[in-house]
Amino acid sequence: MSKAIPVTRVSQSRLTEALRETSEFGATFSDHMLVADWEAGSWKPPQIVPFGPISFSPALTPFHYGQAIFEGFKAHRTANGGVALFRPRENFCRLNRSATRLAMPGIPEPLFLEGVKELVRLDRDWVPHREGGSLYVRPTYFGVDDTLLVRPANRFRLIVMTSPVGPYFAQPIRLLAEERFVRAFPGGTGDSKAAGNYAGGLLAARLAQEKGFHNVLWLDGIERRYVEESGVMNVFFVLDGKAITPPLGGTILPGVTRDSALTLLREMGIPAEERQISIDEVLSAHAAGKLTEAFGAGTAAIVAPIACIRYRDRDLQFSAVSDSSVATRLRSRLVAIQTGREADKHNWLLPV
Ligand SMILES: Cc1ncc(COP(=O)(O)O)c(C=O)c1O
Repeated sequence: MSKAIPVTRVSQSRLTEALRETSEFGATFSDHMLVADWEAGSWKPPQIVPFGPISFSPALTPFHYGQAIFEGFKAHRTANGGVALFRPRENFCRLNRSATRLAMPGIPEPLFLEGVKELVRLDRDWVPHREGGSLYVRPTYFGVDDTLLVRPANRFRLIVMTSPVGPYFAQPIRLLAEERFVRAFPGGTGDSKAAGNYAGGLLAARLAQEKGFHNVLWLDGIERRYVEESGVMNVFFVLDGKAITPPLGGTILPGVTRDSALTLLREMGIPAEERQISIDEVLSAHAAGKLTEAFGAGTAAIVAPIACIRYRDRDLQFSAVSDSSVATRLRSRLVAIQTGREADKHNWLLPV
């Protein structure tokens, strides 16, 4: 048995129904956060404290050199009246892989998982009740040295906060295939959840949004030819009745939803392939009527149908989703498992 985590509770909860059922993604935070520090070679005992501002030196490592990583997963209300986290161990493992890549100390599993469970248990009243709602769990982990020397920090902090959310996209999305900027390249940090990856993508996303798109569709960093992923999700194409998603080759984020989707699609009798798919193949398959659907898969977006992809001067339109669309069926199975309405035969849920 691990030791109980010390908790300093808020004197008065900020919870209201309007805050809990908010539709703006990531703008509301629950009452508490988990904080743990690494110093002089070891982890100090974590604590749960009221969510609120923290104060640091202006010379703080991530402000200058970006030694910061994060994660994202969700807790849902389940059919039996409880609350369960969806595959948090996968996020824990990915956080530690990102930590290794950014020269940061590994986090012990009990510190992370017990801490997250305790935090979500304490703030369980913040888990939305409405269909499609969930409590988004956001760990962030960063160096806390105050030196301008370029080197890995000597001290680190892990903070886990939670935020009640609805789906990230309210309607089918429009993506712009990006040729000028790239997100990642072999040997870089594309398969880590490094904060800097997102900073590097903001300009392309903003320029795409100014043209009426939700985000970009990233192409590979060498030839600008192979589809990689989108801003906050992996992508799937339904081609000739098969679901195709780009392979994990070091430049895309190994999405937990992507992995879950591959399992569920195969169970649904839809062959699922991880293979390279070029933008030219997407164009020609679409022109030949073989490309029937495209969708994104990610924690925030869940399964998000793609309505349009623009590449150069061509707009590939996809027909509106119906109950029989692969995206719709996949999404409802995933949500049914997450909310305990379907048996959890893969052991994906961790009740809190
Ligand atoms: C760049 C990127 N790709 C893919 C994903 C999907 O990953 P997951 O399904 O683990 O949320 C995310 C979101 O975390 C992301 O930020």
